[in-house]
Amino acid sequence: MSEPKNPTVSSSLEKPEDKEGLSRRDFFNEIAAGALGVAGLGAFVVSVRYLSPNVLFEPPTNFRIGPPSDYQVNSVTYLANQEVYIVRTSDGLFAQSAICTHLGCITQWKPELEMIACPCHGSKFRKDGSVEHGPAPRPLQHFAVRMMPDGELMVDLLELVKPTQILKV
Ligand code: FES
Repeated sequence: MSEPKNPTVSSSLEKPEDKEGLSRRDFFNEIAAGALGVAGLGAFVVSVRYLSPNVLFEPPTNFRIGPPSDYQVNSVTYLANQEVYIVRTSDGLFAQSAICTHLGCITQWKPELEMIACPCHGSKFRKDGSVEHGPAPRPLQHFAVRMMPDGELMVDLLELVKPTQILKV
């Protein structure tokens, strides 16, 4: 003997998604899956950054500056990438730092004054790097310059030389 079907009871036993399309459980499952996806992506990014080398890229300390003919006699050439002046005189050629010996500002060659000036506190240097007036306490650093077998010049920032050491070219 079967009971008559009660439409009110049967409708209350149906799954909610049948009525609304997405149950509360499915909604929270979707949220959990999204959160897991975000966490997984974050872990992947952190892992990739951890595995990539932690290297500080700096400009090379040895660099070529071309042949001596690139530098006219009685000229001062500023190499911005290396912060170095290449000075050519009638005696030869030398390389000196453009970094002020007071507090490390980058100096500027002033051709109208025939002088290297620091914009920060007013130090002035002669063409050979010696101090015209302070507050800079020391002359500009000079770096070794060598002639390579192919006729190009090479500057070595790690080898400091006396200001009197000039490459005859
Ligand atoms: S940093 Fe050059 S004068 Fe002070």
